[in-house]
Amino acid sequence: MKEDFFKYQTQTSTHPLALEISHAKGSYIFDKEGNAHLDFVAGVSACSLGHCHPKISDAIKKQVDKYAHVMVYGEYIQEPAVVYTKLLASLLPESLTTTYLVNSGTEAIEGALKLARRATGRTELIAAKKAYHGNTMGSLSLMGYEERKSAFRPLVPDIRSIEFNNESDLDRITDKTAAVILETIQGGAGFIEPKNDYLKKVRERCDKVGALVILDEIQPGFGRTGKLFAFEHYNCTPDILVIGKGMGGGLPVGAFVASEKLMETLQDSPKLGHITTFGGNPIIAAASLATLKEITETNLIAETLDKEILFKKYLKHTLIKEIRGKGLMLALILENEEIANHVILTAAKEKLILFWLLFEPRAVRISPPLTISNEEIKQGCEQIISILNNY
Ligand SMILES: Cc1ncc(COP(=O)(O)O)c(C=O)c1O
Repeated sequence: MKEDFFKYQTQTSTHPLALEISHAKGSYIFDKEGNAHLDFVAGVSACSLGHCHPKISDAIKKQVDKYAHVMVYGEYIQEPAVVYTKLLASLLPESLTTTYLVNSGTEAIEGALKLARRATGRTELIAAKKAYHGNTMGSLSLMGYEERKSAFRPLVPDIRSIEFNNESDLDRITDKTAAVILETIQGGAGFIEPKNDYLKKVRERCDKVGALVILDEIQPGFGRTGKLFAFEHYNCTPDILVIGKGMGGGLPVGAFVASEKLMETLQDSPKLGHITTFGGNPIIAAASLATLKEITETNLIAETLDKEILFKKYLKHTLIKEIRGKGLMLALILENEEIANHVILTAAKEKLILFWLLFEPRAVRISPPLTISNEEIKQGCEQIISILNNY
C-alpha cells in the first residue's frame, strides 16, 4: 500500500507522514499494525465529534439508503439541506439567514468573493497578510504569503492587503473596496486572535465606506473556540460568513451565509451566478445536520473552554514560549522551528498526532475533536512534556 501511495497518489510534499490507516474511533486513529494513535489534530479541525461518531454514521447510513445525488444544487427540494440551513439560520444573527452549500472551504470562499463583487459592483478585495483562505485561484490570490503563491501568478487582480490587528491599515479600506475578508482567528499565521476590538473597528470602517465584511470561520467555527462561531467573541457580525471543515463532522463540505437580500444577487444578471453539481448533497447535509445538532444540544461548546484550561495547565515547559488560540484551537509556540519539528515527529513515532501550522514554523497545532476526554488530554500533554524533557 505504501509503495502504491507514493507511486499513484499525487504528493503535496516530499515528506508526507504516510501513516497507513486501518480505522478510527473517537479520539483514536488505528494503523494497520493495530496501534492506536491519539488524535490531537482531528483531521485539521474537521472531525469535530471525533471519528465515526455514532450519530453521524447513523445519519449517513439512513440517508444513503433513501437517495444520494439527484440533481445539481438549488433545483430540487431535498429535506436534509433544507432542515440544515433552517437550523443554522436559527443559530445565527438575524442578518445571516440564507446559506449556499458547497463542497469545500475554498469553494465557499470563491462563492463569497463573487457575491461581494456582484452585490457591491466593486472589484477591490482586501485580505490580511499571512492569511490562508484555501488553495483555488481566488483563495490563493488572497493568501498573504508570497512565497507560496508567486509560482502561480498571474492571480486574481485587484486584491490588496492589510496587516491583521493593525488599526492604522484600516484607512486602506475605501469606497472602492467590495469586501474585506479576514479569518476571525488567523490560522496558518499561528492562531492569532483579534485584539483591542480590531474586528469591530474593521466592521465600522467597512460600514462607513460601504464595503462588506467577510469572516472566514472555516477553522474556528462550529464550537471550537467556546462559541458556535468565533465572531461572537469579538463584537463583529459579518455580512458574509464562510464555514466548512468541522461543519460536516469529517465529510467534505463548505458554505457561505449572508442575508437573503445579498444572496438574491446570485439569481439573475447573470442568472446562475454561482453553480455547483454536488453542493447541498443530501448525505453530506445529513451528516452536517447530525453534527450541528450534537454540538448545540450537548455541553460540548462550553466544555472546550474547560479543556483549554486543562491544556494550559499541563503544557508548562521552558521550551514552550506561548500558547496561542482559544478553546480547542491551540498552538504551542516553541523556542524555534527545530524544536517544533522534533516534537511533532517524535510524537508521531510515539503515536500522538500533532501537526504544523502553514506559516508559523515554531508552532505545534493542537486542535483535537471537541469530544476528547480530560484523561486523553492529560495523557497526550504528558507525552509532549516528556518529549520536551528529553530534547
Ligand atoms: C481559514 C481557512 N480557510 C479556508 C480553508 C480552505 O478549506 P478547504 O481546505 O476545505 O478548501 C482552510 C483550510 O485549511 C482554512 O483553514
